[in-house]
Amino acid sequence: MWAEKVGKQLGHPTRSVAGWLISRLLTARNQVLEENAVQLCGIQPGDTVLELGHGPGLGLQSAAKLLTKPTGRLIGVDYSEYMHQMAKERMKELVASGKVTVHHCDVAAMPLADSTVDKVFHCNCYYFWPDLRKGTSEIHRVMKPGGLMVTTLRLHHVATLAAKRVMPGENWRPEAYMAALRDSGFTGVRIEDKQHKHITFQAIYATASK
Ligand SMILES: C[S@@+](CC[C@H](N)C(=O)[O-])C[C@H]1O[C@@H](n2cnc3c(N)ncnc32)[C@H](O)[C@@H]1O
Repeated sequence: MWAEKVGKQLGHPTRSVAGWLISRLLTARNQVLEENAVQLCGIQPGDTVLELGHGPGLGLQSAAKLLTKPTGRLIGVDYSEYMHQMAKERMKELVASGKVTVHHCDVAAMPLADSTVDKVFHCNCYYFWPDLRKGTSEIHRVMKPGGLMVTTLRLHHVATLAAKRVMPGENWRPEAYMAALRDSGFTGVRIEDKQHKHITFQAIYATASK
């Protein structure tokens, strides 16, 4: 029962005491994953960059610092209204200037034109998608040919949560996500172990071939 409740809030935080606690947890625990995803996708100053399921917005904050050319653009999508508003508030100056845009929408239906995004990153997000293939096909659609996507996760933690039934079904398994990426037209799909100080995490890479 508690596991289902925690899982629901992790997958879609709502404006509530539970949602607030989850947002504090995400902010305290996931900065390392967010910052490493940003570093690993090799953002160039003039790129158009997309973060999926940004939650409180720490990754957006980190990526925005690298987009120093006037052409550099950052987009965030999250289908939690609460997280959307929290990230919008965190990034309000850059949102007002037009450098950053945040969309309240599902990864599987993004209001973005075809082949317009250079880099995509996300952390702790795909496990909650009901249909992995719909999500990965949509990401592939919006990415430019040769664009790179990086996903970071702490697999040991995710597997522990899944064993307690916090994650629904089997979509949390990297193999399931990587298969959906390949089926959607991504190449070079691979997972690597990484180390950041004393923290071990995993990075999944995929290139949008078109
Ligand atoms: C566990 S939180 C992770 C947040 C942040 N990336 C982090 O690592 O701290 C998952 C986030 O992904 C969002 N999310 C999950 N499935 C989504 C979907 N299909 N479309 C858009 N956002 C989604 C949730 O609303 C939530 O903000």
